[in-house]
Amino acid sequence: MNISDAVRQRRSIRDFLPRAVDQQTLREVLEVARWAPSGGNIQAWRIIAVAGAERDAIVTLGREHLASQQSGGLAAGVEDAYPIYPREIWEPLRTRRYTLAEDMYRALGIPRDDKPARLRHVARNFEFFGAPLGLFFVIDRRVAHGQWAHLGMLIQTVALLLEERGLGSCMQEAWAALRPALARHFALATDEMIYCGMAVGHPDRTKAVNDFPRTRITIDELAEFRGF
Ligand SMILES: Cc1cc2nc3c(=O)[nH]c(=O)nc-3n(C[C@H](O)[C@H](O)[C@H](O)COP(=O)(O)O)c2cc1C
Repeated sequence: MNISDAVRQRRSIRDFLPRAVDQQTLREVLEVARWAPSGGNIQAWRIIAVAGAERDAIVTLGREHLASQQSGGLAAGVEDAYPIYPREIWEPLRTRRYTLAEDMYRALGIPRDDKPARLRHVARNFEFFGAPLGLFFVIDRRVAHGQWAHLGMLIQTVALLLEERGLGSCMQEAWAALRPALARHFALATDEMIYCGMAVGHPDRTKAVNDFPRTRITIDELAEFRGF
């Protein structure tokens, strides 16, 4: 598979087959992914991979999080200093986000006003959408904004290498809601935090949620060409 195909084909997979991904395959992916670039080559990143009983323990943490939310408990784990989205999102970003939600819920057959069904889908994040393997991308709170961008290089590189091997993935900022619980579970160092997770596995290609048309801005919206 060439790079253009990998980039074009990769899409977020939100329903997986119950088929394991072996450690050797993951090691092959990470062996290549560790060559992702970072400013100053500082590689301020770390990955925690969970499978089997460790994955199941994380899913249990997710369930506890959801239960505490339902009972109005102290569930919010997204730290004020590190919100995933701006509190007030503006146009055209707001519409892009809304469009994704509409397209995804249409594929899932969930009507716009069926909030419980939408929430049930969101809750699937905390089961890695059924994937047998989960990755967590760890960053140090002391880094500057550049290192967050560097981490993105690693994450996309991992996703493309998985694609090359016929595996699917979904990056998951949803896990930010469990940052304190995950930090305790993994015994992270004081300054470490989970940026996001990633569900990894064999895509269930029969599911419409893995097949709905996606949109992107055009090249002319994306880029400005000067001096050509
Ligand atoms: C860093 C990052 C975090 C994401 N977190 C989630 C998530 O928590 N749950 C989810 O369903 N999708 C998540 N996504 C997937 C995006 O919605 C998706 O990448 C976007 O809609 C583009 O669609 P595509 O990946 O299918 O091309 C995330 C994507 C990125 C890059």
